[in-house]
Amino acid sequence: MESALPWVFNRLEPPYLEDPYPLYARARREAPVLYSPEFGLWFVTRYDDVWAVLKDTARFSSRFLMRTPADAPPAVREVLQEAYPELPMLVNDDPPSHTRTRSLVSRAFAPRLVAALEPSVRAIVTRLMDGFAPDGGVDLIAELAYPVPIEIICTLIGLPVEARDKLKIWTDDLVTLGAPGTDGDRQLACARSSVAFQRYLEAQIEARRSAPRDDLLSALIKAHADGEQPLDVAELVNLLIVLIFAGHETTTNLIGNLLVLLLARPEILRAFRDDPTLTDDVITEGLRMDAPVQGMFRTTTEEVALGGARIPAGAQVMVLFGSANRDEAVFSDPDQFDPARSNNHRHLSFGRGIHACLGASLARLEARIVLDTVAERLPNLKLDASRPPTYVPSLMHRGPQALHVVWS
Ligand code: HEM
Repeated sequence: MESALPWVFNRLEPPYLEDPYPLYARARREAPVLYSPEFGLWFVTRYDDVWAVLKDTARFSSRFLMRTPADAPPAVREVLQEAYPELPMLVNDDPPSHTRTRSLVSRAFAPRLVAALEPSVRAIVTRLMDGFAPDGGVDLIAELAYPVPIEIICTLIGLPVEARDKLKIWTDDLVTLGAPGTDGDRQLACARSSVAFQRYLEAQIEARRSAPRDDLLSALIKAHADGEQPLDVAELVNLLIVLIFAGHETTTNLIGNLLVLLLARPEILRAFRDDPTLTDDVITEGLRMDAPVQGMFRTTTEEVALGGARIPAGAQVMVLFGSANRDEAVFSDPDQFDPARSNNHRHLSFGRGIHACLGASLARLEARIVLDTVAERLPNLKLDASRPPTYVPSLMHRGPQALHVVWS
């Protein structure tokens, strides 16, 4: 394969799991579009090339099945026959079907629904922080950054908040089901879990059909374009799974990454109390500095020349938002955290183009309320130096797995 490197590009190996940015900088300088035999993937590291891929939806397809295991044993296939097949939905779909679903979902995802969630976000953050001791310490991921987004995605869709821990298990099992290397017994357990997840969603859809409410699920059931059918149950089940996936771990990682940046800069956290407008700039710069979704996958539909490389047809490509956001050709002094930077809104952390994130304003709302409340209630927050953060070993996601802090 062309463009193999004399050095290894592996952001999951120490020290790059904790800090992948020097590795990305080397790639941008020496091999901006590179093939990694370890991952069987082409990585795109410069800003302009990432944007070129995102725009070119004809040659860089988003279609891939995320959750269907390759070569599943017969027992697993038999269980999965009870489930709806995985349908490409939004994030892993291409036009024209992407265009249809996106327009239906954008209509249902009204700014009014998102704005109406502000009191719920505040109530959840307050309830969780009321449980913190006046003098003490917690893992801020387990106690705050994880529960807030999962409870809010339940509230937005209209699922009971009590389902949150079940949803976590179901979504984790779905990732394990499709992951290479999962053994047969585990695949079977995950296949059963996947069927249970779908049955649960189906029951929620049925309940909402007979008694609609003011929630996203009711809006999605109703949504249809002139002269077209609304989404059927199989499409709705697949769409709900995508929304639940897209809406929680990403936001947990955003909140976690922002807290890591601010724990290293306590003066900024303290300044929030005097200047409420600062939070938005800090969130934008935080999104640029440490993208919660480091990259997304595409598949080439024909051979493509890009950044000095020739990517063959049918190749798997990963566009690295995390690297594009530190590209010195776009952001001066890119490794500096500077909330006053004039162009930090050009970050690609929510993607761009036809797949641009539909939940960006919701994610920002959650992050703002968490940061403001932390600044107000825990002004003396410090990292527990004996337990530094550890990072999720994932190519796609980046965020602290645990963030132990103390205060007095
Ligand atoms: C900090 C939090 C989040 C980050 C960093 C993030 C990031 C992204 C990125 C990078 C994409 C583009 C994917 C691509 O180009 O292939 C995307 C798409 C998407 N996001 Fe988010 N997201 C976040 C939160 C959310 C939330 C809270 C929701 C829903 C409640 C959501 C729903 C979606 C959906 C539905 C898409 C697919 C849109 C399409 O393909 O047309 N995201 N997100």
